[in-house]
Amino acid sequence: MKILVIGGTGLIGSKLVAILLQHGHNAIAASPATGVNTITGEGLAEALKGVQVVVDVANSPSFEDKAVLEFFATSGRNLLAAEAEAGVRHHVALSVVGTHRLAESGYFRGKIAQEKLIKASGIPYTIVHSTQFFEFLGGIVQSGAEGDHIRLPAAYVQPIASDDVARAMADATLAAPVNGTIEIAGPEKVRMAALVERYLANTGDARSVIADQQARYFGALLEDDTLVPVRNPHLGAINFDTWFRRSRATL
Ligand SMILES: NC(=O)c1ccc[n+]([C@@H]2O[C@H](COP(=O)([O-])OP(=O)(O)OC[C@H]3O[C@@H](n4cnc5c(N)ncnc54)[C@H](OP(=O)(O)O)[C@@H]3O)[C@@H](O)[C@H]2O)c1
Repeated sequence: MKILVIGGTGLIGSKLVAILLQHGHNAIAASPATGVNTITGEGLAEALKGVQVVVDVANSPSFEDKAVLEFFATSGRNLLAAEAEAGVRHHVALSVVGTHRLAESGYFRGKIAQEKLIKASGIPYTIVHSTQFFEFLGGIVQSGAEGDHIRLPAAYVQPIASDDVARAMADATLAAPVNGTIEIAGPEKVRMAALVERYLANTGDARSVIADQQARYFGALLEDDTLVPVRNPHLGAINFDTWFRRSRATL
């Protein structure tokens, strides 16, 4: 199959393109770095010629409320219109577990807008909802940083390794569209603060972690289970310890 991966140079996109190529598919990484821009439309129609499946794993360069909403709305509109024109048969997108419970957050309002456009497009689709990537732990630490401590929600997370996400995205890409949402998560459900404590200890970071029910996650207040799957998720195999050991080994 000819498969266009929007955001194919990113963390998930580059791993996904590699897996699809290994399976003998003609997978193409599309992003501004390869001359395809879903915001300006540059290179899009040309890149979509003969493409059967599009996978959207792009992310907004800015997480500022207005910028992120504009990114996902504009990118989604341009991409889906070009796909309809090109006769694409399956649109696969990566979003986040709990997105619809997180509308207080500017980032998640962007993801809600992206998903709404997909569902209204008339193109057969599969939305994959993933939990937080282990690779995003540094971003979570940064989001809660206050001097010599990190203030984070008390809620649960069930993080997943990007290698497991890319494999699940490849499975969804090669399967028939479900016209709905699939959930994926890591093997362990843990309190966000406890996980971050482990992460800081492993990286030799002396800052302490405060679990605070009133602390916001990218602008949103969390219930215990806001960020964890509600249905029967597909579980990745890689746990925190394995991920951490492997990520150190590749440094
Ligand atoms: N982080 C998490 O924990 C998490 C959890 C669940 C779901 N997700 C979702 O996973 C997806 C992928 O995340 P990631 O961490 O793999 O992203 P990433 O590494 O930041 O990569 C983003 C990709 O988007 C591309 N891009 C940016 N602007 C673009 C444009 N105008 N047109 C086309 N492509 C553009 C970038 O291209 P260049 O390299 O050319 O700039 C890059 O390939 C996101 O949609 C995110 O919402 C993330």
